[in-house]
Amino acid sequence: MDGGPLRVGVVGGGLMGSGIAEAAARAGHHVALFEPIESARAAALARIEASTARAVAGGKLDEPARGALLARIDRVEELGALADRELIIEAVSEDTEIKLGVFRELDAIAPADAILASNTSSIPIARLASVVAGPGRVLGLHFFSPVPVMPLIEIVRALETSDETIATAERFAASLGKATIASKDRAGFIVNMLLVPYLCSAARMLEEGFASREDIDAGMKVGCGHPMGPLTLCDFIGVDVVLAIADALHDEFRRPELAAPPLLRRMASAGRLGRKSGRGFYEYS
Ligand code: 3HC
Repeated sequence: MDGGPLRVGVVGGGLMGSGIAEAAARAGHHVALFEPIESARAAALARIEASTARAVAGGKLDEPARGALLARIDRVEELGALADRELIIEAVSEDTEIKLGVFRELDAIAPADAILASNTSSIPIARLASVVAGPGRVLGLHFFSPVPVMPLIEIVRALETSDETIATAERFAASLGKATIASKDRAGFIVNMLLVPYLCSAARMLEEGFASREDIDAGMKVGCGHPMGPLTLCDFIGVDVVLAIADALHDEFRRPELAAPPLLRRMASAGRLGRKSGRGFYEYS
């Protein structure tokens, strides 16, 4: 891999997968976005069209560049279409068995020297690498939402990840205009190990009747200059996703202070998942 445009595969056309596809295509890479469900493929395209339209409105992109970006993304319905990819980034739902299944299939279809990355925020990269021949080519590339806007990627080196894989990943991140930070393969990596206990503290504060949702959010937004208050951010990330990461942190480190507040679990059970379900800590129309 010589530093020119790469043939990139993205597995999963959800919020993160479509954001990763957009960011890679914007940087000139040729992207095959695999999403098996037809309605989800259409939703991924609609999301990328809306996001790139916002980029044009904000003066970040012009119309011809937007057209070229969109033309560099092929949406594919068969995983086999990723057989010629140099870098494949998995962004399916945060479920160990589903991700292991994807890595087993990628091992069978991808070129033996293709780099295989996961956007997981909590599943050990070493576990995913264990089902792949040549685990030196597996690493974590953890993006932040909204991917086209947030300028960071966490690069996660698992026990067997090779220096060459890390170097290629760093070149790729630089081509996307993203800064990188290096993390060991521990649940939560750097950012979620700091962010999720903070979000859980805010939920616990609300649960205990300490303050209103608006005042908790205003405290951090107005008082500390955060772009969103913690409860708004939970809704933005997804209450279920925050809960899954909190559980992964607690499972890994077994510290009582990392236990998720019951309110988050009840909200997830009740389907109050945040923006995506129309209701979380706040209501969305
Ligand atoms: N490409 C490039 N730029 C784009 C773009 C695109 N597709 N879409 C929008 N932009 C630009 C806009 O032009 C604007 O630029 P400007 O600041 O120079 O004017 C900027 O991005 C912000 O876009 P908007 O104006 O549309 O949106 P807001 O100003 O309302 O900000 C937000 C929205 C960026 C989401 C902001 O509220 C924010 O930063 N929130 C916090 C998000 C956060 O914390 N994310 C991390 C979550 S944790 C995570 O993802 C990890 C996981 O494991 C849980």
